[in-house]
Amino acid sequence: MTELTTKITNLLGVRYPIIQAGMVWVSGWRLASAVSEAGGFGVIGSGSMEPGFLAKQIEKTRAATSRPFGVNVPVMHKNAADNIGVCLEKGVSAVFTSAGSPKVFTKRLKDAGIKVIHVVPSCALAKKVEAAGCDAVVAEGTEAGGHNGYEELTSVVLWPSVVDAVKIPVIAAGGVADGRTAAAALIMGAEGVQVGTRFALTRESSASHDYKKAAVASQEGQAPLYLRRFMPTRALANPYLERAIEAERRGASREELSQILGRGRARRGILDGDIQEGELEIGQVSGRINGIPAAAEVVQKMVDGILFAVRKLEHVTRDEAAQLNSNDKRPS
Ligand SMILES: Cc1cc2nc3c(=O)[nH]c(=O)nc-3n(C[C@H](O)[C@H](O)[C@H](O)COP(=O)(O)O)c2cc1C
Repeated sequence: MTELTTKITNLLGVRYPIIQAGMVWVSGWRLASAVSEAGGFGVIGSGSMEPGFLAKQIEKTRAATSRPFGVNVPVMHKNAADNIGVCLEKGVSAVFTSAGSPKVFTKRLKDAGIKVIHVVPSCALAKKVEAAGCDAVVAEGTEAGGHNGYEELTSVVLWPSVVDAVKIPVIAAGGVADGRTAAAALIMGAEGVQVGTRFALTRESSASHDYKKAAVASQEGQAPLYLRRFMPTRALANPYLERAIEAERRGASREELSQILGRGRARRGILDGDIQEGELEIGQVSGRINGIPAAAEVVQKMVDGILFAVRKLEHVTRDEAAQLNSNDKRPS
């Protein structure tokens, strides 16, 4: 037990309620094992992996840490069923499913004793996650990097709504990058946080250094949502993105937009570091991030920040109470 024990730390068997989000081209064994070693929960992002590659990533993570870690599987990805097979074979402790129905893989995974957590952008979908028998749900606000919900609900509206809508534990995602944002999520009733952008910009992230540098140099408002009508995605503004947004503004068809997107854009941006013409998936919070630390430093600072924020809140409340009391007692 630590001061930060929650239903999510108990569910995942970790020290801190801090989950490193599964991210394409970003979260391989290096990042996942570094976060798990630091007391958080590392997640391998299988959305960019072939099954054989995923199997090796799981083995390498296991060699680097004895602590629990998980795998993210986007349900609609072409390798999803095979990657779920790898998770079953290797016996990872939790699978985070996303981008698709929570019904598809939950029963198979749960029957094998694997925890299943599904990512949603709305209360309506959170209820379906609960009905599908998942152990927990990630409520991801529109601030988040990468693929997003059509609803465009902000974290501060979505998190407490999902907490009220379901009985399973809620993990808050979208804009969490430090202790105070994580504390805000916990205060709103979340039992943990899922952190993407902040971990994408760490030393152990497998994203290219140019992608990291561009994101760290970005300012507020430079990570817009685009492809809003058929695949809402949040990425860093660059010439490619501006072309696509311009096409959307003049009402381009789905076909034209998918032609502009082409194939392999995210890999080109995130992994290959083509800052001009790649798709640089990143969250709004990149505008607040100004360094590329080790992942363990992010975990430790977030823990310290949560504890500081909570103590500060208690302190302020006590101060205010004292103030009220002293007012009451003041002789007239
Ligand atoms: C570069 C990048 C790649 C991502 N890839 C995935 C993915 O493969 N699967 C997924 O479910 N979410 C993906 N996401 C979303 C994250 O899992 C996470 O929910 C989100 O980043 C949280 O918001 P934040 O970026 O504000 O921390 C990605 C996010 C980023 C920044």
